[in-house]
Amino acid sequence: MMTNERRRLVVEGGERIIDFNNKAFKPVPEEGIAMASDAMRRGVMYRYQPPTKEDSLTARFEKTFADYMGMKHVIGTNSCGSAMYIALNIAGVEPGDKILTNAFTFHAVPSVIHHARAEPVLVETNREWGMDAEDLDRKAAESGAKVLLMSYMRGHVPDMDAVMEVVKKHDLFFIEDCAHAYCTSWDGRALGTFGHIGCFSTQSSKGMSAGEGGIFVTNDDEYAAKAALYAGSYEKLWQKHHGLDPEIMDRLQNEIPGYSMRMHEVTAAMLLPQIPRLAVIHEIHVRNHALLRSIIGDHANIEVPSPHPKAGNFHDTMQFHLVGMTTPQAEAFLDVAKEEGLPMQIFGIRRNARDYRSWTYVDAHRDDLPMTVENIAFAVDLSMQPHLTEDNVRVMGRVVLEVLDHVLA
Ligand SMILES: Cc1ncc(COP(=O)(O)O)c(C=O)c1O
Repeated sequence: MMTNERRRLVVEGGERIIDFNNKAFKPVPEEGIAMASDAMRRGVMYRYQPPTKEDSLTARFEKTFADYMGMKHVIGTNSCGSAMYIALNIAGVEPGDKILTNAFTFHAVPSVIHHARAEPVLVETNREWGMDAEDLDRKAAESGAKVLLMSYMRGHVPDMDAVMEVVKKHDLFFIEDCAHAYCTSWDGRALGTFGHIGCFSTQSSKGMSAGEGGIFVTNDDEYAAKAALYAGSYEKLWQKHHGLDPEIMDRLQNEIPGYSMRMHEVTAAMLLPQIPRLAVIHEIHVRNHALLRSIIGDHANIEVPSPHPKAGNFHDTMQFHLVGMTTPQAEAFLDVAKEEGLPMQIFGIRRNARDYRSWTYVDAHRDDLPMTVENIAFAVDLSMQPHLTEDNVRVMGRVVLEVLDHVLA
């Protein structure tokens, strides 16, 4: 089919109607740019360079985010992957140990397990892309794994009552991967506060954006002490953190290796003004997501699964299943939409990094997870960054519908 023919179908006059980038990442607020520039101008970029914790932007960020989450401790890291790696070390993971994790997540997660020389045990995915608690129970029993590293992939929330029952039943060490789960809750309680440790990402596509960066959260004094040391605090530098217990630090100071995974002062500067902004962009996401859903959700070939009534989602992206379509039709849908200026992906095709069959390094590339295969096969992923206006969202909806009708014609 000719490109012009496609455009005529979607727009009047052969002109593209998408003149915005739905995937453009959030800029850093001016206040963050000013703090970052000031730190760079003064040459104070290392988190332990300021004389006291009060002068350290990283320590300030940690305290502010801890207060925001209602958690006792936050340790800044250079990525969410690093925070999760540190968490696996704190859980006592040894090479060859089995770690329960999602079959549907981004490959950074099995990669962290690989980094720890452990073995992932992949757990099935439900229709709304959360972990299936029954399969978790089964796999925990079968494998004997003692650690669960669970992703809230794209901010989708599994039945946390059922998950927590399994965690208790098998006495699992529970690490929450909240890379996509800012402002996300279950029954009013924030995700990241359910497990022994929660890990957030501040890589640019995430709710808080600093290019790179990670956040380790816990209520446990010993885990926090270890996290600071694993991240690369040495000698008495722990004094430049808020809230670490001196006795624990003295005891552990030379016992824990330092993996140089510290947060950077410039990262903290970029992030500090983004904490209060989270609630603001959350509102935009919820509004835009509901609008797009109202436009495309009733199409016969689209299924937008509803979150569990107890879940409160961030909604910074939208996922929907294409139903009653062949793989070539789904591929054509992606291709034509991209030409129209609306890039999307489908998790289950084109060797996507969120398709477990692509993770050949973990020896889990077989079609042995039928629910996951089915639930990613036609799962479309659409970025909805907070700069999008209501008009932009209406245009996105119209393009989705018209491209769909075009490829099905
Ligand atoms: C679900 C999920 N978990 C963890 C990560 C790792 O985050 P980071 O890039 O900060 O290491 C990502 C990255 O995109 C992710 O998508």
